[in-house]
Amino acid sequence: MEQYVVKGGIPLVGEVEIGGAKNAALAILAAAVMTDETVVIENLPDVRDINVLLNALSGIGAVVERIDAHCVKINGSTINNLRVDYEYIKKIRASYYLLGALLGKYKRAEVALPGGCDIGSRPIDLHLKGFRALGSNVDILHGLIAAHADTLRGNHIYMDKVSVGATINIMMAAALAEGKTIIENAAKEPHVVDVANFLNSMGANVRGAGTDVIRVEGVEKLHKTTYSIIPDQIEAGTFMFAAAATKGDVTVKNVIPKHLEATTAKLLEIGCEVEEFDDAVRVVASKPLHHTSVTTLPYPGFPTDMQPQMAVVLAISEGTSTVTESIFENRFRYVDELSRMGASIKVESNIAIITGVQGYTGARVSAPDLRAGAALVIAALAAEGITIVDDIYYIERGYEGFEQKLESLGAQIEKVLSEKEIQKFTFKVS
Ligand code: UD1
Repeated sequence: MEQYVVKGGIPLVGEVEIGGAKNAALAILAAAVMTDETVVIENLPDVRDINVLLNALSGIGAVVERIDAHCVKINGSTINNLRVDYEYIKKIRASYYLLGALLGKYKRAEVALPGGCDIGSRPIDLHLKGFRALGSNVDILHGLIAAHADTLRGNHIYMDKVSVGATINIMMAAALAEGKTIIENAAKEPHVVDVANFLNSMGANVRGAGTDVIRVEGVEKLHKTTYSIIPDQIEAGTFMFAAAATKGDVTVKNVIPKHLEATTAKLLEIGCEVEEFDDAVRVVASKPLHHTSVTTLPYPGFPTDMQPQMAVVLAISEGTSTVTESIFENRFRYVDELSRMGASIKVESNIAIITGVQGYTGARVSAPDLRAGAALVIAALAAEGITIVDDIYYIERGYEGFEQKLESLGAQIEKVLSEKEIQKFTFKVS
């Protein structure tokens, strides 16, 4: 099993290029098979989750041609199987986007029911409610969600809870339904907007994405397009918090600063300097950092996917901070690992109470999930001594060339496979 070994205590300095947004890409790849014409997707992040979804698309018969690491050509005219197996869903929940995409195009789809996951129970009732409202039958049989409709008809759908996945799934199915769909209390995340823009570039008629109300006027069919995915706000934010934790000076490039406003606001609040450019943001942490409170919320609130990275910084900032997780129930599993590095954090229900300590000390820790894994690497970069992070396959699900990008900012980090390699690294950096 691959691990990261890190010698901490070096401020990160320099510039780093941010890749395409994984979460936008997952939905866009699924939507790409909604036309029989060829679609070209650019600025694709080369990460494990994307490769799993591309395999799922090939698995149902689509032609997937990788032009290079960041560009793919997809043709959905050869799809010959409307069932997406558990094999894919268990690796990446977002395969459920194929439900909305296939239901819209073929009026029929069967996708394995996703289970819970490392950050808590993840219901999909709102997705199913939306499909039913569009006139589809939805049954759960033998571990599969089976949806089929004679005709999909637009409807007025109120989302009881703001859900990124349900908003996107319903939007995709509605794009090829008859008549008008109105999604109220829709998610406003940048990737919801990106998927809407992508669908529109294929000839769909989606308006209002990025607001609470999305209006979709169904069209008969979609056509070819070439589309470039937006920058990944979570990857960008991760490097911004890494700059803060290591008292560094990092410019994240190829970003949309507006998407990073919640992260930027919190960094300013704790004492960082943040400079915004047209498509870059610079974070400088030259003064001691101090406590704050943060609550995760749907966009434009503070993203739950940045919560562990923020907590890692607060745990070495002066004073007592609170981090309230309001989206997922089990997103503090990294706290025990962080405590092993010297953090002082008490979790009560969905609130982490963090008492700032002077600094971390290197230890052996395990990544409990994707974002918490990245957060532990940030802690390792700030720690005194050597840290070994196990289970880094979680991190590789969503970060492309993580260690290379960190190395380019001056970090001492290596991906290793054995104790011998760890010893070699330790010898080299001591
Ligand atoms: C997406 C992101 C994930 C991010 C999350 C919140 C992708 C592939 N994943 O996940 O990284 O952490 O948004 O920003 O884009 N809910 C229900 N019923 C449903 C659907 C959701 O109750 O049918 C609840 C969830 O349990 C959660 C909340 O709604 O409490 C938000 O979840 P949702 O926005 O749907 O998250 P995902 O789309 O799964």
